[in-house]
Amino acid sequence: MFKTGLKTKIKSFLAKRQEAKIKDYGFLEPKIWDLETKGSNLTIENFVFTELAENYGTPLFIVNAEKTRKNAQEFLSGFKKNCKDFEAFFSYKTNPVPGMLRIFHEEGFGAEVTSEYELWLALKLGVKPEKIIFDGRAKSIESLKTAVEKQIRLINIDSFEEIEKLKELTQNQKIDVGIRLQTAKSWKGQFGFTLVEAVLALKKIKETKNLNFAGFHFHLGTSIKEFKKYLQNLEDIFAFASEIRASLGLETKILDIGGGFGVPQVRQFTTDEQEISERFGIPFLPPENTKNPTCEDFAKIIGKKISELSTKTKIFPKILAEPGRIVSSSAQFLLLKVVETKQRKQKIAILDGGINIAAPLRGEFREAFVANKMDFGQREIYKIVGPTCNPGDVLYAAKFFPKLEVGDVLVVVDAGAYFVSYANSFCFPKPAIVVVENGKNYLSRKKETFDYLNLNDFE
Ligand SMILES: Cc1ncc(COP(=O)(O)O)c(C=O)c1O
Repeated sequence: MFKTGLKTKIKSFLAKRQEAKIKDYGFLEPKIWDLETKGSNLTIENFVFTELAENYGTPLFIVNAEKTRKNAQEFLSGFKKNCKDFEAFFSYKTNPVPGMLRIFHEEGFGAEVTSEYELWLALKLGVKPEKIIFDGRAKSIESLKTAVEKQIRLINIDSFEEIEKLKELTQNQKIDVGIRLQTAKSWKGQFGFTLVEAVLALKKIKETKNLNFAGFHFHLGTSIKEFKKYLQNLEDIFAFASEIRASLGLETKILDIGGGFGVPQVRQFTTDEQEISERFGIPFLPPENTKNPTCEDFAKIIGKKISELSTKTKIFPKILAEPGRIVSSSAQFLLLKVVETKQRKQKIAILDGGINIAAPLRGEFREAFVANKMDFGQREIYKIVGPTCNPGDVLYAAKFFPKLEVGDVLVVVDAGAYFVSYANSFCFPKPAIVVVENGKNYLSRKKETFDYLNLNDFE
């Protein structure tokens, strides 16, 4: 049942969307993702998606190396043009696939890690310690020990407990630290220090011989498309940095602005909208603006504000950012095959992969194409579900597609952020990952085998 008071909202929503159920509003253009159509086939860098599906099997993730590079360059050049002193660190949790991470590092990105595993992975991939930032709210002693021993660039401290751990671990070695701030606009709760707590934390850091205070870190959230949040937050941080300089004599040399930059062609659903779509089979509408904000838009506005605040406060920090989805989302695709169709109240298509490997589809609109039916005529509304025995395994509650048949291959675009990192082995092994690069395609990760899934079990 809907919450009370929602009825009027539903009525106006339904009136607006009534048309959407009858009229096909079309789809986002494949060229947004640098894809092309050849006859009835969708292609990526001259490779036909269905042939890749045939060669490697489905479900299958495909990384577009060229698009990854392009996104990385756009982000760096956008910010470098607008912030004098700038560095980017790719958020490993967003997509920890070495085939993609390698490209970000080749393009000059460092690594933002949040766990012992991610720190290990960055070092294993050859990332220089000075290009690693360590965030995270429950850093293990082991991971902190490695971070100190390897002399990584920055540990962003999240709690008083962490200061104590670091005090122990830095008896003989110095390390640069930042502190994560909770501001009016940032994620709160379990993350970082409130401004009042931060003053106490900074006093402790100052008293601790081998902890060098470098600066502040914040992360505002994810899928942010309006700039207001960043601007207000920067004002708060610079004001706080001024206070700290005056009261404790601590200089802010680094400002780590986190990630959170939204992808224009991906839209978060409201919970009401999700419920309505599921109950009435009304398709979600794509975002109205699929072009902005770009990396350059974020960079321009944030850069301008920082330079204004620096002039005002005489604080000139180096700016670090930890982008995730804005640089990786559009560079990876998920291929899924139709394994069964059913006619119930709605037309239903069952795919060979579901929410187990495509978790973000539960809350966010993403376009999807039928790779072998790009020359379609009329489309119909389908409910697209995964293969697992879970009623929540719904990828699209209602979406227009050409007539679907067993064997058709769906390409879910924007599968490069939080798909692989949230994927699990619920009922099915996790898929392979293939990279398409310079006219070649190659395996970046093997599909999990049954033996692999069973490897650590005692019988
Ligand atoms: C501390 C931190 N930095 C960066 C990111 C990357 O966020 P996004 O993918 O929204 O850019 C996250 C994501 O949760 C995060 O927690």
